[in-house]
Amino acid sequence: MATGTSLSHVFPLGSRLNERGRLEVGGCDTVELAREFGTPAYVVAEEDLRERARAFLQAGEGSEDCDFHVVFASKAFPCTAVLALFAREGLWCDVASGGELYLALSAGFAPERIVMHGNAKSEAELRMALEHRVGLIVIDNFDEIEHLQRLLGEDGVPGQRFGRDREAQRVLIRVTPDVRGETHEKISTGQADSKFGFSMADAPAAIARIEGIGGLAPKGLHAHIGSQLLELEPFRREVAELAKLGEFPVWDLGGGLGVAYTEAQPRPPAIEDYVGSLLRAAREHGMGVPGKRLLIEPGRALVANAGVTLYTVESVKHNVSTWVAVDGGMSDNLRPMLYGAPYEAHVVDRFGGATPCVLAGKHCESGDVIVRHALLDDPRPGDVIVTPVTGAYGYAMASNYNGVLRPPVIFCRDGDARVVVRRETFEDLIARDA
Ligand code: LLP
Repeated sequence: MATGTSLSHVFPLGSRLNERGRLEVGGCDTVELAREFGTPAYVVAEEDLRERARAFLQAGEGSEDCDFHVVFASKAFPCTAVLALFAREGLWCDVASGGELYLALSAGFAPERIVMHGNAKSEAELRMALEHRVGLIVIDNFDEIEHLQRLLGEDGVPGQRFGRDREAQRVLIRVTPDVRGETHEKISTGQADSKFGFSMADAPAAIARIEGIGGLAPKGLHAHIGSQLLELEPFRREVAELAKLGEFPVWDLGGGLGVAYTEAQPRPPAIEDYVGSLLRAAREHGMGVPGKRLLIEPGRALVANAGVTLYTVESVKHNVSTWVAVDGGMSDNLRPMLYGAPYEAHVVDRFGGATPCVLAGKHCESGDVIVRHALLDDPRPGDVIVTPVTGAYGYAMASNYNGVLRPPVIFCRDGDARVVVRRETFEDLIARDA
């Protein structure tokens, strides 16, 4: 091991190399974690999640003027333990399907703190949102307005099916403000030609339609311009664009703050700077002022850096490049394949390696490469490898490709490790057979 190797800032808060030169996450030795729980495994530093949630909330505390809330975009890590932790920290929750709504409710989020999204909500999902009386439904399109109207009762009388005494369902409308930030095109959503939301031109007509429906209470606007954004300017432009549509009691500015995946990447804006900048822009445009409610929906920035994945090396071969194959891959982290996302990799007990390697997965296709340019210290079968920054959209997008079992999620804190999601079993693979 290279002595004096320091740990890249992309690892979970509190991670370190211990006296034996081994990576510790949440006070737990990762060689021991691999031995005890097997690999691949998602390892999450519980305190990292908590600290980032608190950083978001504290950054908003300066905003006495408006009613500010942090809504966790559950799609980033839709697992009960993560959701329950954020519910306890006082966050709200963004869900984008019936399944995410189910997860959020069973993890303990109060329905009034749930924001329901989706560009193709089914009638069953809308019914579920109405029945549970979620805090806000974010309406994406004219067809959805009709679906809601039908569900609430043909003549628009509130609650024919959902109880006559019910208060009108609060809704926002999602607009696409034609603001593009610098990010991968697959996760850019704010451009005019998008599958998400109403165009700026259609927004007033959508609001007018909703105003005519007794069971719906239009409260304001939502926009989400994209994900993994590393500059604050597009968020400020988003606020300015939204303000052009008028005055509303509720504004939801979406998520999108990016994170650093590798030490070499530019550092993203700090959570405090991001929230501060949004609040200032909102204040300037009359949104972040007394009497208004302002929501933001971070996903990645809350969970990405809290998680790492542990793998075991199965084979090493030299076919022009040095190919290091591990026991996971695109079934537990699809991001390199979908977005060309860069990751670091290290042997957990020999950091500071210098051998150029391709870190490949175990799946039956050449695209199954986790890290194209990894620098590892003489990797050998049996070595435990870590890829940091897998807390967001790794577990969420995992699959059983090649019949591979999805990994467990292990929470680590103060040296204690606990399984919060167990590893799948072969029986799970046939459990749904009819
Ligand atoms: N709000 C809405 C309405 C969203 O659609 C999203 C993400 C978020 C909030 C949270 O965005 P974040 O803060 O995480 O950037 N699978 C992709 C990311 C897709 C993001 C989809 N929507 C990835 O792995 O990069």
